[in-house]
Amino acid sequence: MSEQEKRGGGRTALDVLLHEDRIFDPPPEFASRANVRDASVYEEAEDYEAFWARWAEQLDWIQPWTDVLDWKPPHAQWFIGGKLNACFNCVDRHLEGSRRHKAAILWEGEPGDRRSFTYFELHEEVSRFANVLKSLGVGRGDRVAIYLPMIPEAAFAMLACARIGAPHSVVFGGFSPDSLADRINDAEAKVLITGDGGYRRGGVVALKDNADRAVERCPTIDHVVVVARDGEPGLVEVTMKEGRDHWYHDLAPDASTECEVEAMDAEDTLYILYTSGTTGKPKGVVHTTGGYMTQVYATTQVVFDLKEDDVYWCTADVGWVTGHSYIVYGPLANGATVLMYEGAPDFPDQGRFWKICDEYGVSVFYTAPTAIRAFMRWGRDWPDRHDLTSLRLLGTVGEPINPEAWIWYHEVIGGERCPIIDTWWQTETGGIMITPLPGITATRPGSACRAFPGIEVTLLDDAGEEVSAGYLAIPRPWPSMLRTIWRDEDRYRKTYWSKWPGVYFAGDGAKVDEDGYLWVLGRVDDVLNVAGHRIGTMEVESALVDHDAVAEAAVVGRHDEIKGQAIASFVTVKDGVAPTKELGAELQAHVADRIGPIARPADVIFAADLPKTRSGKIMRRLLKDIAEGHAIGDTTTLADPAVVERLRMQYEEDES
Ligand code: PRX
Repeated sequence: MSEQEKRGGGRTALDVLLHEDRIFDPPPEFASRANVRDASVYEEAEDYEAFWARWAEQLDWIQPWTDVLDWKPPHAQWFIGGKLNACFNCVDRHLEGSRRHKAAILWEGEPGDRRSFTYFELHEEVSRFANVLKSLGVGRGDRVAIYLPMIPEAAFAMLACARIGAPHSVVFGGFSPDSLADRINDAEAKVLITGDGGYRRGGVVALKDNADRAVERCPTIDHVVVVARDGEPGLVEVTMKEGRDHWYHDLAPDASTECEVEAMDAEDTLYILYTSGTTGKPKGVVHTTGGYMTQVYATTQVVFDLKEDDVYWCTADVGWVTGHSYIVYGPLANGATVLMYEGAPDFPDQGRFWKICDEYGVSVFYTAPTAIRAFMRWGRDWPDRHDLTSLRLLGTVGEPINPEAWIWYHEVIGGERCPIIDTWWQTETGGIMITPLPGITATRPGSACRAFPGIEVTLLDDAGEEVSAGYLAIPRPWPSMLRTIWRDEDRYRKTYWSKWPGVYFAGDGAKVDEDGYLWVLGRVDDVLNVAGHRIGTMEVESALVDHDAVAEAAVVGRHDEIKGQAIASFVTVKDGVAPTKELGAELQAHVADRIGPIARPADVIFAADLPKTRSGKIMRRLLKDIAEGHAIGDTTTLADPAVVERLRMQYEEDES
């Protein structure tokens, strides 16, 4: 394969998808037992308010709602006047009857240590955590930042916040101190919950140290609660600041395991979750309680076809929205048994995930295309060594899945007996929006199929006309939609609602085929999707120009066989600075240090000039062409067209 083909220069994703005509009917054995078996569900959901209200009725409400929906674009309110508590719905309501001693969370640490919690025990843990927060002065409406590894306490902390009505803001443990501080400051969080460390690929990630560096810059933080990964200190050396920092295990013994739940309004904020956009500053996506819980509850039950005896494993980190909706709130609201794993998929070897599936009898498995492509590269020997017959449904999320990876997942992991559920959604949508239904939909590799019942999506052009290939748009409200950007209503309106009046702009491009199947192609804005993680080009550019040697920087995403996209950065240096290989490595490390390792550029290309329009705007489109080895697009608007040719020659030289 040539370098150009490797970078996706030959065939575009669209070409590949357009030639995909394999169809997979739901396996008859599966379909006959599926939670939703009848395609009439789509028609029944046409009265979407009534449809969602029927789902909402399955939650426990403290006070019923009076109206289902109030839609004053761009603001929706769902289940108006209703009161409920998200934690109660995930925990307390399972305490009566047979779920009381059912496993709620099965946890495995990377070194192989195990912990498990029944619903009864979960109730105690969460109530105790909630009382600890209260003892530190956290009350209804106060924001709590959570920066933890994948340990059970991450779920306890989230649910504890929900219990007392304190919106949480979970920050992925891989983010840098700066990224953590920015998020804490934007939300004005009062308390930070962190840990001493966690295991990743055999090493220990020292979180407290990062947290300390962040909190130095966070005037609103009164207290830091530190969870010891092993239940007692010793994993890594940490410094505790007197009066501010508290070990969780010191506070917990004094806290009661009974804690009343707060009666929250359906529209009260459940959480804020920061995600990247097209500017340098991440935005705080605000999710509320009633609508959010309704949609994650319904989609978990229908899309994953959850049954009482399933062992459900979503491999995401709780730091991302997938972890919020489909590790914590959706599955627990359904009374499921949820598996959590702390570490890397290739530790101690590349068979770790399959060993876990085998040992725990995992039946429903949800992961990202990036992971599937890595498994493919590692080879089928690893899964073949384990008994995977407990699996009955496989899901994917986060990025487009290429048909080859889909087929491999289907054959090698699913033994050709498991439906594959390719789910499209976003941090902003809160819950799954486009997906097959496992008992009904004939799936096509690479297509997320169609909108979930009760959801409408359409493809529009710039003028708002319906087209068969264009921008993915959502023309009517849905229960788990974001309500605003935290303290930035203006950005909320501009980002999502300014393209067409009253219609949500998702930021993705898509195509619909003659059978009505949707094919999501990827972002159409300056947002990158690296290994399923959203990163803004502007964030990386700001991190680069923040380095002393850099005059100007432009960042684009280029195709990457495993990660979907990799970050290519084009940099001009200041006068007198030598653009050496060492400087390139230093800049990569600098970005990782500023944002987090997920944002490290794969390529740093030093350029004498960046291609700009006569008005001085950097033309990223041309840089993308260079980085992907495509034919260079139209350069007529460039101030100096020769810049591009020089850059391309240089890029090819650097690559070889
Ligand atoms: O581009 C789409 C891609 O991921 C973006 C949302 O990223 P984030 O908010 O981080 O949430 C990821 C997990 C829900 C979307 O705008 N995306 C997500 N799922 C798919 C997808 N692209 C194609 N197919 C999918 N199934």
